Amino acid sequence: MATLAQIQEIFLSFLNPWQFMFFAASWFPGTVVRLVRDGKFGVLLSPSQLKDAWFSNFWDWFAPRLRLNAGPRVIPLLEGRTTGGRIVEEPVGPGIGGTVIEIGAGSGNWVDIFSNKHLVQQQGQIAGAAAEVSSSGAEAVETGGTATQRGGGGGEKGPTKSAREAITRVYGVEPNRDQHTSLRRKVKEAGLEGVYTIVPVGIEDLDNPAKWDGKVEKGSADCIVSILCLCSIPEPRENLRELYGYLKKGGRWYVYEHVKRDEGWGMRAYQAFVNIAWPHFLGGCQLCRPTEQWLREAGPWEKIDVGHPLDEQWHHTLPHILGVFTK
Ligand SMILES: C[S@@+](CC[C@H](N)C(=O)[O-])C[C@H]1O[C@@H](n2cnc3c(N)ncnc32)[C@H](O)[C@@H]1O
Repeated sequence: MATLAQIQEIFLSFLNPWQFMFFAASWFPGTVVRLVRDGKFGVLLSPSQLKDAWFSNFWDWFAPRLRLNAGPRVIPLLEGRTTGGRIVEEPVGPGIGGTVIEIGAGSGNWVDIFSNKHLVQQQGQIAGAAAEVSSSGAEAVETGGTATQRGGGGGEKGPTKSAREAITRVYGVEPNRDQHTSLRRKVKEAGLEGVYTIVPVGIEDLDNPAKWDGKVEKGSADCIVSILCLCSIPEPRENLRELYGYLKKGGRWYVYEHVKRDEGWGMRAYQAFVNIAWPHFLGGCQLCRPTEQWLREAGPWEKIDVGHPLDEQWHHTLPHILGVFTK
């Protein structure tokens, strides 16, 4: 028998996506007022541009809150400390490094993570003066040769290790230009000017010089990082195959995404029901994408280590996958 507390938890869990849509909706009037004030009547008359402006305003507000929740999963993921969807203390594979493509960079919520100040060099030197790892409160400390963090960042209490490598270049792919002001500011604050390039087009145009004044070569990326964005890309199966082509042999794709529920007909039906309204409030985000399966089918992988975080329960409308695909 479920206790009252459990029933209440399940009820709140069902309510959660509707609350979230309400928060998103509450940013719509302010967006319209701002556009009128700025005389941007063309944007008001274009449904797709209005949607981008609205989503951008909402996401500016929401992103730091998301970071607090998702940081304890994302940071260990990028340090090579996840297996089977679980966070572990010791690295089980390499962390991010080299040339990285960040898909759907949004307002720059994760930009500072790409700074090499978080990298502790083999000699035990912290690369860069600042020791703060992230807004989630982790602190990098010198421990004579291993990359170690204390507190918060990995969502763990004791010291934890990182297998990150030096990052030489990051392409932050973000087609919604309304988010670029915030994204640019985050790049500057992280000291990543000259390292982090904002790519102002969708992943489908990464290697199209007619669409932006740059080009990313196929087979040039050591890592792809996708954090809660494959739900929003157009023609996902085709574009995931396309993105696979940008990874070098041995390159890694770090993924933290919400996905289609694959168990329990009741919850699958509920998720599909919520998804009738959801994309209209959340910039086109889709709840029912079998992203893990599509990633598996994107091309041949040397190794796949992915799973659902253990603390997610059957009544969560947005189950996640967390893990690394190695080409
Ligand atoms: C839900 S937001 C997540 C943003 C960011 N990753 C975060 O965690 O804060 C999804 C992002 O994907 C972007 N996006 C949409 N279509 C895209 C495309 N074709 N290529 C790359 N990014 C795209 C959206 O503009 C949006 O900023």
